[in-house]
Amino acid sequence: MKNVTLIPGDGIGPEVSQAVQKVIEAAGVEIEWEEANAGKGVMEEYGTPLPDEVLDSVRKNKVALKGPITTPVGSGFRSVNVAIRKKLDLYTNLRPVKTYEGAPTKFKDVDYVVFRENTEGLYAGIEHKVGEDAAESIKITTRQASERIVKAAFEYAQRENRKLVTAVHKANIMKLSDGLFLEVAREVAEEYPEIEFNDRIVDNMCMQLVQYPEEYDVLVMPNLYGDVISDLGAGLIGGLGLTPGANIGDEIAVFEAVHGSAPDIAGENKANPIALLLSGVLMLRHLKETDAADRIEAAVADVLAEGQTLTGDLGGNATTTEITEAIIDRL
Ligand code: NAI
Ligand code: MG
Repeated sequence: MKNVTLIPGDGIGPEVSQAVQKVIEAAGVEIEWEEANAGKGVMEEYGTPLPDEVLDSVRKNKVALKGPITTPVGSGFRSVNVAIRKKLDLYTNLRPVKTYEGAPTKFKDVDYVVFRENTEGLYAGIEHKVGEDAAESIKITTRQASERIVKAAFEYAQRENRKLVTAVHKANIMKLSDGLFLEVAREVAEEYPEIEFNDRIVDNMCMQLVQYPEEYDVLVMPNLYGDVISDLGAGLIGGLGLTPGANIGDEIAVFEAVHGSAPDIAGENKANPIALLLSGVLMLRHLKETDAADRIEAAVADVLAEGQTLTGDLGGNATTTEITEAIIDRL
């Protein structure tokens, strides 16, 4: 029996997290879910969108599955999601970008993984006004944070039999900050001679990913570029309904989809649960439940390829419940 914290979240969060719980149970993995909610939905009861018991539960269980969270205005948080990543020092944001047959995209054979630095860069949150008509945002780059994210990317490449790691940067313009990131990436690459290493300037990377996405394998980059490149990836594979993610630290990991709370379809049984389900697959691999992870991923691939039971974002008219049942049937 494994203990996992469940943060259902806001909007479509409860619907898609319930779907994931059902599929994981049907796959025969026994999980003791400890529910601790955060977000807009708990603001009134707790006076904060991030009650201590949520962080305490994740620290205790070391693993969490998290639905999307809406950050309430006036709660004192810039983003509850960013706060969770920072407080738990989840420095790796891992976002696999992979095409499945039957997904609404013209691309094929895309299979790369984004490693986004999750704690600093332009998202360090240090901003101030300079007089009335100017503002500064400070971009922080440290050797320590750069080194651990690049190492995480190479360790993953080694473990998963990946061949190439590409560092993404703008070191030609930001010579000191991105220059340091690139310098550290080159140093770390030397420790992994069996894995090929190259680098791309971020704007060129965007063009390359649209023209030749199948040529890339593992990408590692500072925070802001990772945010942009991973949404580009979601576009390549058929949308946010299919794009999983994970936030990983040295001891704690929080698995969540890339998408938000989708207020436009919340509570209507229309949301695609696959993005969170594939995040659950990443969680099962992290928990060494490899067999169940493989079976769930194959069931998702079958349902997409068959094309009979698809949610609205994939061009069908199935409900969340129906696509979840279809996946369970294939298990
Ligand atoms: P969003 O991802 O919630 O929605 C964008 C569009 O994609 C909407 O049309 C939505 O219906 C659709 N969509 C998203 N997920 C879907 C799914 N699983 N199935 C079918 N359609 C789906 O992004 P938006 O509207 O910018 O943000 C809404 C709220 O979510 C905001 O409060 C934002 O701050 C929050 N958010 C939270 C995140 C997190 O918890 N990690 C990440 C991104 C946004
Ligand atoms: Mg984003």
